Amino acid sequence: MELSLRSPMRAQVIKLVHVGIMVVAILLVRGTESRRARKLEEFEYNAISCREHSASVTEFGGVGDGKTSNTKAFQDAINHLSQFASDGGAQLFVPAGKWLTGSFSLISHFTLYLHKDAVLLASQDINEWPVLKPLPSYGRGRDAAGGRFTSLIFGTNLTDVVVTGGNGTIDGQGSFWWQQFHKGKLKYTRPYLIEIMFSDNIQISNLTLLNSPSWNVHPVYSSNILVQGITIIAPVTSPNTDGINPDSCTNTRIEDCYIVSGDDCVAVKSGWDEYGIAFGRPTKQLIIRRLTCISPYSATIALGSEMSGGIQDVRAEDIVAIGTESGVRIKTAVGRGGYVKDIYVRRMTMHTMKWAFWMTGNYKAHADSHYDPNALPEIKGINYRDMVADNVSMAARLEGIAGHPFTGICISNVTIGMAAKAKKQKWTCTDVEGITSGVTPTPCNLLPDQGAEKITACDFPEDDLPIDLVEFKKCSYRMSYLV
Ligand SMILES: *[C@@H]1O[C@H](CO)[C@@H](O)[C@H](O)[C@H]1NC(C)=O
Ligand SMILES: *[C@@H]1O[C@H](CO)[C@@H](O)[C@H](O)[C@H]1NC(C)=O
Ligand SMILES: *[C@@H]1O[C@H](CO)[C@@H](O)[C@H](O)[C@H]1NC(C)=O
Ligand SMILES: *[C@@H]1O[C@H](CO)[C@@H](O)[C@H](O)[C@H]1NC(C)=O
Ligand SMILES: *[C@@H]1O[C@H](CO)[C@@H](O)[C@H](O)[C@H]1NC(C)=O
Repeated sequence: MELSLRSPMRAQVIKLVHVGIMVVAILLVRGTESRRARKLEEFEYNAISCREHSASVTEFGGVGDGKTSNTKAFQDAINHLSQFASDGGAQLFVPAGKWLTGSFSLISHFTLYLHKDAVLLASQDINEWPVLKPLPSYGRGRDAAGGRFTSLIFGTNLTDVVVTGGNGTIDGQGSFWWQQFHKGKLKYTRPYLIEIMFSDNIQISNLTLLNSPSWNVHPVYSSNILVQGITIIAPVTSPNTDGINPDSCTNTRIEDCYIVSGDDCVAVKSGWDEYGIAFGRPTKQLIIRRLTCISPYSATIALGSEMSGGIQDVRAEDIVAIGTESGVRIKTAVGRGGYVKDIYVRRMTMHTMKWAFWMTGNYKAHADSHYDPNALPEIKGINYRDMVADNVSMAARLEGIAGHPFTGICISNVTIGMAAKAKKQKWTCTDVEGITSGVTPTPCNLLPDQGAEKITACDFPEDDLPIDLVEFKKCSYRMSYLV
């Protein structure tokens, strides 16, 4: 454009040019808005169901900068996707990035998928954690008498839900909560990372869970649950950072998990004292396989201590424990009621343990003082076989309930190598009954040796549980989403 004009016309032209530039600028801004970059992502995973509809959290205002709260974006996205529940279901994709968020709730026929470089960061703003009533089978919160903060990823009364990813991360940023807990400052019980209540057909797989405020994965009052390929890491001194706690659940399969934590790697539960007895919902038909556990102050697999709804038919195999306090531990008390029966564990390898086997009949923690002193738990049919341990301080510490022994204990083909500084007494047994075969060091008199021909005496069921028959489908996606 020729600008060597004389004023006032020149001024006029310059003005026009300015306006023009502004218009172009506005159009450019508009243009980038309506043509915000899209990204094409292709991925595949295995799941109990594949979905017809997909969206990314970025399409609902999500910002993965590690600072912006995405609680509303997650909840808006999920609310929007709920319209597809009866139309093939929907998947919410979380791209690479750091996604700060408080608690949000899932819906039925839904998949939450975390990209391998996606990190969900749990918010430390207490207002992002709504408070729920205590669990009916517990009667009170575990950290404080009242309610409990809703878990980061929460679902209730759902069916067909998948939480998975290419090993994406959920970081609970727990130190904030652990400090509050130690200072006794919590008004409510700490949140968990994933809790699914009153639900059916659940898959939680291929994720890494870091530094949970408390328990990591808590399926409760639910059935048909698959937990696969989960890595859980928390400091071994962090309070109550249990790995996976199936609680009043039927038909659960936990496999290929690696857990380092400050509490039990897997804790099987079913409610507490009079509340658990009244609710009356057992955990049964549970498979635990290919689990690696590191937990110096707790158990590889704990049964209890809250077991008042009963625990039955637990099958654990191919378990590795390293530097863990105990292998399998049964915890209960007078007042719990309920039962722990038909427990089968085989092919467990243990390195550097305080106790290979531990049973405690007087685990004291009670919900309140109203428990029924006549509610005696029944512990029977406990089968351990084909195990090797080394560097163990004490082979077993088995303490039943006086006048109400733990019965039907069977331990066969178990070789426990004692530590150089092992306790002199390798077994202590009180109020237990059962048998052993092919066990070293020589077991206590209450578990008499039946001779070498009974080395396969302890049961392990050979039939399949219904959850074993569930197969994964291969889900493939090609989706483009706004970034
Ligand atoms: C989890 O990841 C492993 C290894 O990448 C894969 O073999 C397995 O099928 C995945 N499982 C699910 C349920 O996605
Ligand atoms: C969920 O199901 C339980 C048990 O069936 C019921 O007591 C509860 O009211 C339901 N909650 C919701 C939010 O629907
Ligand atoms: C998942 O990530 C964790 C943490 O980075 C890592 O230790 C683990 O090996 C990964 N698992 C798989 C199957 O890639
Ligand atoms: C004893 O247990 C070991 C594994 O610890 C296993 O390899 C072996 O086959 C078992 N023996 C019998 C007789 O079952
Ligand atoms: C045996 O256990 C002790 C702790 O009890 C540990 O310091 C030592 O390194 C372990 N030895 C081996 C060979 O693992």
